[in-house]
Amino acid sequence: MPGAEAQQRIGFGIDIGGSGIKGAPVDLETGELTAERLRIPTPSPSKPKAVASTVSELVAAFDLDPAVPVGLTFPAPIKHGVVPFIANLHKSWKGVDVPALMSEAIGQPVIAVNDADAAGVAEAVYGAARGVPGVVLVTTLGTGIGSALVVDGTLVPNTELGHLEIDGADAEDRAASSARENENLSWEEWAERLQRFYSTVEMLFSPDLIVVGGGVSKKHEKFLPLLRTTAPMVPAALRNTAGIVGAAYLAAHGYR
Ligand code: BGC
Repeated sequence: MPGAEAQQRIGFGIDIGGSGIKGAPVDLETGELTAERLRIPTPSPSKPKAVASTVSELVAAFDLDPAVPVGLTFPAPIKHGVVPFIANLHKSWKGVDVPALMSEAIGQPVIAVNDADAAGVAEAVYGAARGVPGVVLVTTLGTGIGSALVVDGTLVPNTELGHLEIDGADAEDRAASSARENENLSWEEWAERLQRFYSTVEMLFSPDLIVVGGGVSKKHEKFLPLLRTTAPMVPAALRNTAGIVGAAYLAAHGYR
């Protein structure tokens, strides 16, 4: 049984994605997972009740102390807990109060945050943007494009830059990592689309640093050198734990 001091150092993060729901305890001082991440496939259809029951199954596997702060990421904007619209999970999530649903399911308080926002906070606190002053733009390239804007360490939530309309299309439909896979694009062809996206966001936000995350960031040497931006562009440091870590951190810091 860990002492009270050790307890406060630990948070728990849950990352809800289109294909998997992942969770792990997090050391809030270092941003490292303290136990192996557990992954359960996202139920299909990914409706609120089914996802909540998978989340409760996942949390039950860790025998959590009720005092441990729990944070959950969600692949949609989350405005004070509620989903205003949703692109990549079941449409019935629109209007759902995610913390209320999940707290009920797991029997302890939970905060909910957009997945890219959680990753952005994790990069700002523990990762590639740690200690960087000014405007940091964190993007996640996956099924969609997620974005997090962090200004002097403070998150501006729900920026949703993946849904910017560029050349008459939703930016993520053309430039997400899934578009590269589905359309069999070469790295060069994909980089051209990414360039349109990053040039547009750079023009709009003049960031001091751009961090590129999402699963494909582990292959950053294939495409980052093909991109030209004024601000330095760096791969994410936390990779596939960023959502879990950021959610746990925000839960411990009273995010709502
Ligand atoms: C959603 C964002 C999310 C991103 C990455 C987009 O389609 O609208 O909220 O952050 O995908 O999952």
